[in-house]
Amino acid sequence: MSLFRKKSLDGLMAQAADSEKGLKRTLGAGSLIALGIGAIIGAGLFVRTAAAAGEHAGPAVTLSFIVAAIGCAFAGLCYAEFASMIPIAGSAYTYAYATMGELIAWIIGWALILEYALGAATVSIAWSEFLNKLLTQYNLGSIPYEWCHSPFEKALDAANVMHTGIMNVPALFILLMLSLLLIKGTQESAFVNAIIVFVKVAIVVVFIVVGWKFINPANHSPYFIPADAPPAIKPDGSSYSYTDFFRHGYGGVLTGAAIVFFAFIGFDAVSTAAQEAKNPKRDMPIGILGSLVICTILYILFSYVLTGVAPYTDFVKSGKEASVAYAIETYMAGYGWLAKAVTIAILAGFSSVILVMLMGQSRVFYTMSTDGLLPKMFSDLHPKFRTPYKSNLILFVFVGAFAAFIPGSVAGDLTSIGTLFAFVLVCVGVWVMRRNDPDRIRPFKTPLVPLVPILGMIVCTAMIVSLPKETLLSALVWMIVGLIVYFGYSKKNSKLVNLGDILPKASDFE
Ligand code: ALA
Repeated sequence: MSLFRKKSLDGLMAQAADSEKGLKRTLGAGSLIALGIGAIIGAGLFVRTAAAAGEHAGPAVTLSFIVAAIGCAFAGLCYAEFASMIPIAGSAYTYAYATMGELIAWIIGWALILEYALGAATVSIAWSEFLNKLLTQYNLGSIPYEWCHSPFEKALDAANVMHTGIMNVPALFILLMLSLLLIKGTQESAFVNAIIVFVKVAIVVVFIVVGWKFINPANHSPYFIPADAPPAIKPDGSSYSYTDFFRHGYGGVLTGAAIVFFAFIGFDAVSTAAQEAKNPKRDMPIGILGSLVICTILYILFSYVLTGVAPYTDFVKSGKEASVAYAIETYMAGYGWLAKAVTIAILAGFSSVILVMLMGQSRVFYTMSTDGLLPKMFSDLHPKFRTPYKSNLILFVFVGAFAAFIPGSVAGDLTSIGTLFAFVLVCVGVWVMRRNDPDRIRPFKTPLVPLVPILGMIVCTAMIVSLPKETLLSALVWMIVGLIVYFGYSKKNSKLVNLGDILPKASDFE
């Protein structure tokens, strides 16, 4: 039945060979882990940790990180099975096309737009916050509130005058710069990447080590936000109450997990480098799971220190933006230099995350377009630069609209939903494949199937439902629009001729 027609492995390999000409297999396990960390550490850690702690979990945001990491670990194990089984450039979209058929692949591809496009928007909004911080740190003034916030945000200034955002110009600026860079076809040098990864990890470690001395045990007690915690005052002067189930105690930890989940997004990007891995069967799982483990450890320690240095209620008000720099400046006397170094490093680090996200999105668009599911312009290449420039420009307009006019928290929550949804489907996919096709060669096997995929589905779904209802509704509308596009355009234009699913079976090699 055409809704479930699948891509053949031969077709995938041929397509990959076409689009990936010249890629050398140069990446070992270590480089893959570095690649993962480069894509992972970003706004999730440096901005959303504070939002999760301030508004939902308090010091127990450390537990939120553990819950999010558990969900990612289950999904990561499932990703590893697919990435080693189908070791070609691609993502969940490609795996789904080969295993579960076109409709599911489309749904995942549509959800991945939320992950990559809105992920890029979220990080660009965070970039704007830290740029403003940098300007004030060097006494260069600051960008007027109106021009670095969305129309949905407002805040009182020191003179008690209310300001309402109009448009986030710095976020648009960084997106434009990076889109142009992508169009020009930057071959992101491994060297620059390595430096950025090193700097990012170094900043996190230095903050943990130096900040440890400034932990005030009173800030960690009580560990969970109590149901009767007094309301905090928001930047616009309104009060923020903690009485809602998802704003204190365990409910708050769960919502906190869904928020900081954003910090883990990107480990799946390792799978897009499958064609450049020296030994993908062994190294893909190591790259995916290794980067996840290292980041989890860093995140737990980082959030422990951050909530120990500053009281969580600060992160509802003045410390909400550029929270790490704020915490250092306000509570770590004598470390002004660290606040400045952190800000510069974070700006560089965010840029690389945005670049990976924009690149990942244009790659998904490119693949969907060559499959006929999206119009051809998404895969038109620039005559000189050989990059999908039209796709990059359309993407800039789409991502830019969100970055300029939507608050970072909304874009971030939508990103999390899209990614969590894709994770749930990948978990389902592994289980379905084991049942329907037990004979396939699987260089890496997800342990304890179906337990691990089921637990992955449960934890990821729990995080989805604990996100704000409006966000859930927006995501639902997005998915419905996706189905309309699929049935109205993509299904008819799909280039797939059903050749049957011909992934190799163990019996083929006997
Ligand atoms: N994990 C990436 C970040 O936190 C998306 O910025």
